[in-house]
Amino acid sequence: MLFFNFNKPFRQWQPTKSNLLFSLFFLITSQVLAQKQILIPIETRQHALALQVGADQRVGITYFGKKLKTPAEYQYVPAMYRRGDDYSGILNAAYTPAGSRNLVEPAIQVTHSDGNTSLDLQYVSHKVQKIDKNVSTTSLLLRDPQHPLEVTLFYKVYYDENVVEQWSVIKNTQQGPVTLHKYASANLYLTADRYWLKHYHGDWAKEMQTEETQLTTGIKVLDSKLGTRANLYQPPTFMVSLDKPATEDEGRVLYGSVEWSGNFRVDLEVDPLNNLRIIGGINPFASAYTLAPGQEFSTALFLYTYSENGKGEASRNLHRWARKYRILEGEGNRLTLLNNWEATYFDFNEPKLAELIKDTKRLGVDMFLLDDGWFGNKYPRNSDKAGLGDWQENVQKLPHGIGYLVKEAKNNDVKFGIWVEPEMVNPKSELYEKHPEWVIRQPGREEHLYRNQLVLDLSNPQVQDFVFNVLDNIMTKNPGVAFFKWDCNAVIYNAHSSYLKNQSHLYVDYVKGLYKVLDRFRAKYPKLPMMLCSGGGGRVDYAALKYFTEFWLSDNTDPLERIFMQWEYSYFFPAISHDNHVTDWGKQPIKFRTDVAMMGKLGFDIVVSKLEPKELQFCQDAIKTYNSIKDVVWHGDLFRLASPREHDYASLMYVNEAKNRAVLFNYMVGSRYGAGTDSPIKLKGLNPDKKYKLKELNLYPETRTPIKEDAVYSGDYLMTVGFNPLLNTRRTSVILELTQVK
Ligand code: DGJ
Repeated sequence: MLFFNFNKPFRQWQPTKSNLLFSLFFLITSQVLAQKQILIPIETRQHALALQVGADQRVGITYFGKKLKTPAEYQYVPAMYRRGDDYSGILNAAYTPAGSRNLVEPAIQVTHSDGNTSLDLQYVSHKVQKIDKNVSTTSLLLRDPQHPLEVTLFYKVYYDENVVEQWSVIKNTQQGPVTLHKYASANLYLTADRYWLKHYHGDWAKEMQTEETQLTTGIKVLDSKLGTRANLYQPPTFMVSLDKPATEDEGRVLYGSVEWSGNFRVDLEVDPLNNLRIIGGINPFASAYTLAPGQEFSTALFLYTYSENGKGEASRNLHRWARKYRILEGEGNRLTLLNNWEATYFDFNEPKLAELIKDTKRLGVDMFLLDDGWFGNKYPRNSDKAGLGDWQENVQKLPHGIGYLVKEAKNNDVKFGIWVEPEMVNPKSELYEKHPEWVIRQPGREEHLYRNQLVLDLSNPQVQDFVFNVLDNIMTKNPGVAFFKWDCNAVIYNAHSSYLKNQSHLYVDYVKGLYKVLDRFRAKYPKLPMMLCSGGGGRVDYAALKYFTEFWLSDNTDPLERIFMQWEYSYFFPAISHDNHVTDWGKQPIKFRTDVAMMGKLGFDIVVSKLEPKELQFCQDAIKTYNSIKDVVWHGDLFRLASPREHDYASLMYVNEAKNRAVLFNYMVGSRYGAGTDSPIKLKGLNPDKKYKLKELNLYPETRTPIKEDAVYSGDYLMTVGFNPLLNTRRTSVILELTQVK
């Protein structure tokens, strides 16, 4: 340890003889010290995080940013020198323990078996495990020298995608129980002049409202305490720009997200040195977790990617990672569909559904999806007030059961999918009468319902079996079922489990119970496509998407609002995971609604029989067109070109890997007189040396394109000068396909 503050000598440095001598001494000393210290770089193709074990065995973060050519140089970075002695190894700790020297927000806080509340974590060892050419995991074992508690920090690196997942495993090596009061997944430390946080908030039908603000000193907390539908009000995804707000193509930006389908918390703390501490993980709110001797606790994963080239590159990194490594069948196919929710709500019967199945075929989509309302007999599910939990076909509505519908679908050469909400129960249900002990509620207190329902206690293994069986029974009886929509419409009020001894385990054990069910389901049905729905986008996160092929962004399908919502979701989740349905929400014509839904996975939730002949013709043609471009949308790279927040229009494009095909989506969001694109929009992601021609897709019957489709442009021209899709208040959406000309 050197006994001076590095801040002053650097700021007031003058080239005197004694200063030069001192600098030489400092340089040599720091190099010698540094050589003795263990340096652990965590590197992706473009980014690095460097950990350093100090002489006192404490592990600090010495660097976060663009990868250096010589990893050994991470130990000399000025950010390190700016720290005074008082702070070193504390503010920049790799995993900040509470109760010893640290006085800032901790990553971990415990009470030992003897009641002691201090924790000091010191380096024991580390190793790097190579999983394959692209993926490796670095793990560091830390131990408290006084109180035998072990923490292993994990950093899983996806090299090419520039993505890192971080988590920790905490092991109680004491004779008695240890209580964890905080147990974050990650603890990051970033240096910049200023920090800009872009984060989200919302509500039902209002998902992904965004704000971008400068972080000031103190702690900004992003969190959820809802138990289920955890991100109804605030999602666990955010981005931080360093120095100034990053644009699409410029600036340093970190995307972060907690992978946890329950209560999460992210602390963003601008510390006394103007560095940014980010601590993210499960929300410890009402969730002190007690570990028995020998027991381990694995935290949630914290995901991040970092780019020096703006928000666009960061998204593409994350999308590639998500498609390749996380989303179920992320590089595979999806089913276009017709859903009956808004067409019928709860009011249907067999003949009506049989007609809708025929409409599915007529429309030309792959699947019919039967939504809520098909179950419950003693308490029929004819509204959202009853029947939830009683997963037997309603004999009035479906006298021949699901099997009949699966057969009808087969006869019409389409697939059949079905809605479930297996974690929930209406008090008016047989399940509730039979198993009141399975319901989360405070004994003796009045029940508080959300959408007339309560949440089942997934910490209870019997409930886990029940939930698994809801889906498994459907599949066993009807192996032809090709898709599930898994909904989740209530939050947890009055959190109490009659199964758990320790109530403060409920929020965590609920989510772990949910993952157990989903693991079991996936072990038996590894690839069955499934939509993650939560009364809209109340639950999407990257832990859940391991089990799901896609997610429902919002019940709000008004296409104008969707442009903004889909735009914001697109920062974090690739198009292949976005379920966009054409509905009757909004005042826009069917073309606009369809064009907007096409920038993800297309579905319909309309009464097909009520479409005008031209509208039907348009939809049928649009589905054929979609089938011809979906590969580019689902598997290509996304480039956002013109933000709807900055223009009267939004424009974005997907480019395939070979850069010989691209699809450009353009939508008007302004309706002011004269609004439109009066100058070209610069395209991105093309090969400058390739030549392309453009073709307008999805033209409404009997309309013509004003675009010159025989013109040929170089990628260079299109990216430098741009192209005008000729949007205006009468031509409100334009989809263009770019194809390479040989
Ligand atoms: C909420 C979902 O978001 C809707 O799409 C629909 O499935 C209803 N639940 C059914 O109750």
